[in-house]
Amino acid sequence: MKTRQLGRGVALAGAGMSKFGVFPGRSTRDLFVEAFAELRASVDKGLDPRDIEALYIGNYSSDLFEGQGHTAPIMADWAGLAPRPATRVEDACASSGVALRQGILAVASGLYDMVLVGGIEKMSDLPTAQVTDTLATAGDVLYEIPAGFTFPGFYAAMATAYMDRYGAAPEAFMQVGIKNHANGALNDKAQFGSTIRQVMDSKIARAQAKGQPVPTWQDELDFLHDERANPVVAWPMRLFDCSPISDGAAALLLVSEEIARLLSDDPLYVIGSGQASDVALHDRADLTTLRAAREASQQAFAMAHVQPADIKTAEVHDCFTIAEVIATEDLGFFPAGKGYEAAEEGLTTRRGPHPINTSGGLKSKGHPVGASGAGQVVEIWKQARGLAGERQVPRDVNLGLTHNVGGTGQTCVVHIFERR
Ligand code: COA
Repeated sequence: MKTRQLGRGVALAGAGMSKFGVFPGRSTRDLFVEAFAELRASVDKGLDPRDIEALYIGNYSSDLFEGQGHTAPIMADWAGLAPRPATRVEDACASSGVALRQGILAVASGLYDMVLVGGIEKMSDLPTAQVTDTLATAGDVLYEIPAGFTFPGFYAAMATAYMDRYGAAPEAFMQVGIKNHANGALNDKAQFGSTIRQVMDSKIARAQAKGQPVPTWQDELDFLHDERANPVVAWPMRLFDCSPISDGAAALLLVSEEIARLLSDDPLYVIGSGQASDVALHDRADLTTLRAAREASQQAFAMAHVQPADIKTAEVHDCFTIAEVIATEDLGFFPAGKGYEAAEEGLTTRRGPHPINTSGGLKSKGHPVGASGAGQVVEIWKQARGLAGERQVPRDVNLGLTHNVGGTGQTCVVHIFERR
């Protein structure tokens, strides 16, 4: 593999996001305006929006979710940026991670000095069955969907293959959910602002208030084994192994390295970028790893001249808990087949050696699919600048990584950021 470098340095000079959640009556435009307002406030030395030269907007399926296509120029309009060129980027759940890469390439090429990268999705207007059908269009509709696959089903197939090969048990996946809910409980942008213990306590209080039989769960694992509290969606993936149906938006300001300090006291530099594709899941010889993720991360690490062990915190694509376990292996944080043990041993908690998904991840922060990749970068921005409050990892976050997956891993994009 040839190591590639950017044509010139690119930096992140601002980042913002809306709250992620379920927002009846609010469209992607409203959510994007909220994210853009937070981005503006994050630019230390002030941003004149007229300096933004182009927009790259990641959006999976506003067409089917909201009945609205052609969303990029609408975002430009609502952010007051027309007539700047606005391009929509679609790569399933990796849409805004790939939009970020397009923005980086545009600045690195010298064409622009400042671009806005956005991510948007509004999923909650449709009933769950229709959301599932819409998401399924990111699978292979010739071979996979007619065979009965849904997204929980795809990742369940990966989970059973992983369990079979490495001897993992579902409890390892449950630990990922427990950790990510604990992190999300400290993030005011998260859809689920509760630890699993708090979810248990509220269900107990609800049962008591209604005079119903009061559950007697001993601990979180006991709760997660309860079929009523945590039903199987596609075995071994249960409700608390799944990311939710979400609405949300995120926005990132990319600038050339030369002007970064004119805008920001503490910019983050993009030092690694990688992207790869893969065949559909049914055509893969190995379901326990994502080849596109391995390829994309190798590209990003080679460009950045750093090693997995150097990364201080990473936001990885945990659309299902198994996906986080596999991601930590594909990125080289743990050897193949050891990611599940790392989750069980707490190595990926905020205070562990490899903090993963301090934001709560897609599992707890929420997964408005087209916005998730850009949302991951917002967390790295906050962690690197020491703005993550109670969930701040207790070390100098000079290097952070994002890993964003489209569909079952037919697309993966990895970015590495450095604070200097
Ligand atoms: N994790 C934890 N709790 C969840 C949840 C999730 N993912 N999704 C919903 N809930 C909770 C709700 O808060 C609600 O709790 P309450 O009864 O205490 O108020 C309860 O479960 C029922 O919520 P509801 O919205 O009716 O759930 P649902 O059955 O319609 O949807 C899933 C649940 C798992 C089917 C849905 O979240 C889903 O499809 N997730 C996967 C999305 C996906 O595939 N994304 C793309 C990945 S590549």
